[in-house]
Amino acid sequence: MNAIDMLMQEHRLVEGLFEAIEATHDAGAREQMFTELADVLAVHSMLEENVFYPACKSEDTEGTLLEALQEHLQAKRLLADLLDMDPMDEVFMAKISVLKAAVLHHVDQEEREILPQARRLLGEDMLMAIGNEMIVRRVELEMKGEPRLQIPSQTEEAPALE
Ligand SMILES: [Fe+2]
Repeated sequence: MNAIDMLMQEHRLVEGLFEAIEATHDAGAREQMFTELADVLAVHSMLEENVFYPACKSEDTEGTLLEALQEHLQAKRLLADLLDMDPMDEVFMAKISVLKAAVLHHVDQEEREILPQARRLLGEDMLMAIGNEMIVRRVELEMKGEPRLQIPSQTEEAPALE
C-alpha cells in the first residue's frame, strides 16, 4: 500500500474520532474512543518518526520535518496528560480541544507540504515499499499491545531525524 494513502486514511480516522469524542456525553464511550485515539496516534507518530520522515529527509524538507517532530512531541505531552486523567474530569475535554487543534494543524501541514514533497521526492515504487515497511512495523507495535502506553516515555524530546 502507498505510504501517503495510508497516512491520509489514518488522518481521516483521527478526525472522526475527535468528532465522536466531542459528541458523546457517555463516560464509557468517551473513555473507549479516547483509548482508540491514543493508540492510533501512538502508532501513527512512531511510523512517521521511524520510517516515513527519515525516508522523506532532504535538504528541502528537513526544516518542515523537524517542525513536524516538535508537533508530535507537543501532541504526545498532551496525550500523556490525558492518559493520566479521568475522562469525566472537567478539564479532560478542554485538553482534548487543545490536542485536536494541535493535531488538525499538524495534519494540515503534512497534507499541504510534507506529503506533496514526499510524492515528488520518492515516486510510486518507493512509496509502496515504504508503505509495506510501515505495515510490518504497525503489526509489530500492535502485537506488543496498547501502543498508547509507550507515549509517556516519549515526552522528553523528539527523536532525531535519521
Ligand atoms: Fe505526523
